Amino acid sequence: MQKETMERFPPQRVTLKNGKEVTIRPLLPEDGEALAAFYASVPQEDYRFYCPHPLDREHALANAAKAFSPLEVVLVLEPEPGRIGGYTWYRWKAPNAERSTFGICVGRALQGTGAGRALMKRLMEIAAEVGPPIMCLTVQKANPRAVALYQSMGFRIVREQMRAPMADGLFPSEPEYAMERVNRPT
Ligand SMILES: CC(C)(COP(=O)(O)OP(=O)(O)OC[C@H]1O[C@@H](n2cnc3c(N)ncnc32)[C@H](O)[C@@H]1OP(=O)(O)O)[C@@H](O)C(=O)NCCC(=O)NCCS
Repeated sequence: MQKETMERFPPQRVTLKNGKEVTIRPLLPEDGEALAAFYASVPQEDYRFYCPHPLDREHALANAAKAFSPLEVVLVLEPEPGRIGGYTWYRWKAPNAERSTFGICVGRALQGTGAGRALMKRLMEIAAEVGPPIMCLTVQKANPRAVALYQSMGFRIVREQMRAPMADGLFPSEPEYAMERVNRPT
């Protein structure tokens, strides 16, 4: 996220359904180790649904290092300073791209507390002003919580397809939805 976008959308305090106050803020270059710890905490059952890349330290450090990229917006949810409990992002390939790709992962400890919805709400406020007008995602049919959350946030199903099996053979091919959201009129 560009620094000027970070200034327009500063950290936000949010109260979750369990009464806990957390901070939603942009990912920063210094978040590498905290992001690595978050990745390491994601159980295999959740990696099945959230697998944009291996959830290892190398990818965490690389993602944090490009926190000021003009072609992405990444938000983290901090339950306490220095710890990441969830994150969400959208990325696009070129300055004038029509579409971005969306992803989200909330740690087990905060699932079901409204953390996912709070992260998405903030992300969509930014997407109304920054980045491509359309946002895309894919989500397995076996993940009804995510499908329901996405629909309630304005995504619609555009097709059904089969997700390719994981390269390492960890998870087989399975049915998924491709969904899209209009962030602002074109
Ligand atoms: C999917 C995910 C992001 C949702 O975040 P969360 O913090 O657990 O969800 P929230 O507490 O914000 O709840 C979102 C909504 O889903 C609803 N929901 C929960 N379980 C549900 C289910 N089985 N079916 C339908 N809706 C469900 C909740 O009621 C809530 O709606 P509400 O705000 O109107 O009450 C999170 O669980 C997660 O990261 N899971 C593992 C990785 C993953 O699946 N990522 C998405 C990959 S596509």
